[in-house]
Amino acid sequence: MRLFYDADTDPTLIRARRVAVLGFGAQGRAQSANLKDSGVAVTLGLRAASKSRTPAEAAGLGVAEPAAAVAGASVVVMLVPDEVQPDVYRDVVGPNLAKGGALVFAHGYNIHYRRIQPRMDLDVIMVAPNGIGEQVRAQYVAGHGVPGMIAVHQDASGSARALALSYAWAQGHGRAGIIESSFREETETDLFAEQAVLCGGLTHLIAAGFDTLVEAGYAPEIAYFCCLHEVKLIADMIYARGVAGMRESISATAEFGDYTRGSRVIGPESRAAMRALLGEIRSGAFAAELQREIQADKPVIKAGRAAARAALIETIGAELRDRMGRPKR
Ligand SMILES: NC(=O)c1ccc[n+]([C@@H]2O[C@H](COP(=O)([O-])OP(=O)(O)OC[C@H]3O[C@@H](n4cnc5c(N)ncnc54)[C@H](OP(=O)(O)O)[C@@H]3O)[C@@H](O)[C@H]2O)c1
Repeated sequence: MRLFYDADTDPTLIRARRVAVLGFGAQGRAQSANLKDSGVAVTLGLRAASKSRTPAEAAGLGVAEPAAAVAGASVVVMLVPDEVQPDVYRDVVGPNLAKGGALVFAHGYNIHYRRIQPRMDLDVIMVAPNGIGEQVRAQYVAGHGVPGMIAVHQDASGSARALALSYAWAQGHGRAGIIESSFREETETDLFAEQAVLCGGLTHLIAAGFDTLVEAGYAPEIAYFCCLHEVKLIADMIYARGVAGMRESISATAEFGDYTRGSRVIGPESRAAMRALLGEIRSGAFAAELQREIQADKPVIKAGRAAARAALIETIGAELRDRMGRPKR
């Protein structure tokens, strides 16, 4: 697979446009600052009552109400939460973005599942960072960048791909590597990774390990350090050296236990469950279920948050993190 770098991009394309960024959250905060520092004319679209107005203005960014920001731009970046994007497109972007404009997404979800069907005269592109907003900004400021993925859904102008590469340049992705993908591939792999590995898989693995030790009579504090706290140390090693490199860096006892025991925890049953999750993502069943959850005002999410907050691993963890002088979140 070919990777694209700064030399493969044309910075003049995005610098020639006026860009409206909708949202000043995790990605909006990072991407608008990166655009500004890359010499791009950027205006933030924020609701009148937004608490972000003051910090955005303090960061030297121009701020307007969303409809006005869109009307004054030829590129609109959708950095509001995925669940509100269809309404924001319908009410703010569709009626106000000038003919021939471009719409940029950081995640393919709403286009892939057809929750937004943009006007045919628009370029519709994706520039998805492989990192959370904080990293997108911190890496850019440090002269590096996080990798990014680009894709083209609609190429009305004939130059949508070049514009996507140019936008990726402005975010620093060309310093780390830009991969060309599709809205479908980015959406399905992203959902799968967060469900099976990064969020759902990891949190349930940690909780199951913690509960097993506590149920067997071990001190919750010790179980917390072993099963949660040390995850970061191992993740950092895997990030820096890969799985094989991590295994070569740990003790022979830990390495032997990994080879002989790990597949008993994540065995054929877990792999079958992963294939089932992927099937639900690809069929649209997960997206339909999420849609019902959002329409019902997030009952599962609210109950999950309450249960997680009340769990022993959280109360013990909050106390231990406090004592270690780390910020509580
Ligand atoms: N989180 C990440 O690091 C990350 C990583 C990769 C891709 N992405 C993608 O980036 C996009 C943005 O995600 P995010 O996590 O950055 O979003 P977020 O932090 O949840 O966005 C919050 C911002 O959206 C604004 N907002 C919320 N509802 C709105 C509405 N109805 N109308 C106008 N503005 C509204 C909020 O405005 P107020 O100030 O008025 O409340 C706030 O400024 C998503 O497509 C996501 O999948 C995110």
